[in-house]
Amino acid sequence: MKNYYRDKLAWVFGGSQGIGLAIGEELLKQGCRVRLWARRADLLQSEAGRLGAQWTAVDVSDYAATEAAVAEALQKDGTPQFVFNCAGLALPGYLLDVSAAELATMSQVNYLGTAYVCKAVLPALVQQRGGHIVNVSSLGGVMGLFGYTGYCGSKYAVMGFSEALRREVAGYGIRVSALCPPNTRTPGLDQENLRKPPEVLAQEEKVQVLEASVVARYLLKALPRNPFTVIPSLDGRLAHLLARWAPGILNRILERPPAK
Ligand SMILES: NC(=O)c1ccc[n+]([C@@H]2O[C@H](COP(=O)([O-])OP(=O)(O)OC[C@H]3O[C@@H](n4cnc5c(N)ncnc54)[C@H](OP(=O)(O)O)[C@@H]3O)[C@@H](O)[C@H]2O)c1
Repeated sequence: MKNYYRDKLAWVFGGSQGIGLAIGEELLKQGCRVRLWARRADLLQSEAGRLGAQWTAVDVSDYAATEAAVAEALQKDGTPQFVFNCAGLALPGYLLDVSAAELATMSQVNYLGTAYVCKAVLPALVQQRGGHIVNVSSLGGVMGLFGYTGYCGSKYAVMGFSEALRREVAGYGIRVSALCPPNTRTPGLDQENLRKPPEVLAQEEKVQVLEASVVARYLLKALPRNPFTVIPSLDGRLAHLLARWAPGILNRILERPPAK
């Protein structure tokens, strides 16, 4: 990994806190130029100022705004070598309780936000004949998790989109990977914990929570090999193998009768 990121340019969407911010911090440590993107300008300004990064406020679920902000940043920065799509949220709960608006929000931010950023940056990457797009999915993007119907739907969509895009743009020298983190200590996870069904909380007592910096370092170390799926925990990699090769065993582990 030595010097792999040095003097390159990375754009980190969802970069003002959590996993995105940790990726931005790690890239800066490795000599990469970084632009952080998110909605809240005040948080972006303070974090980017602290780290010495550039920043742009944008809502990635709004395609017109994203396309315009990307065009402006291309003028200022030139074309990035790395694009990280970390904007996203989880609103867990039984489908009986999750509202239609909450289902739409997860799809709009997690899936469409990712697809919109890819679409907005792709012409510049094609012209550059290279670049690496990393879309953040989840372990919930490779296996159906109890209490996460809407979230898993949106993250499976990220996986399908990313796999198809990887095939579509390989000929231009552009790489596409999908990061599937397990539970990671972030402000987003704090919010998610407030609404997890009891079965999920009980099951998670045994599950390790990773630090965002660990996820960021694992990802950046993996990218030079151009893997498609990046899963930063051993538990997660084992569960992914079970999901592919022994789904019956995984079903017995993950299925839980509803509590009410
Ligand atoms: N933490 C975990 O345990 C975990 C596990 C698996 C997967 N993930 C995935 O990893 C990604 C990052 O999660 P996290 O836990 O780091 O979340 P987080 O702490 O809530 O950070 C989310 C970041 O995305 C930005 N963002 C949210 N909605 C946005 C929008 N519509 N447009 C632009 N920016 C937006 C937020 O800033 P603003 O609010 O200011 O926009 C913030 O910078 C998400 O896709 C999440 O689903 C997380």
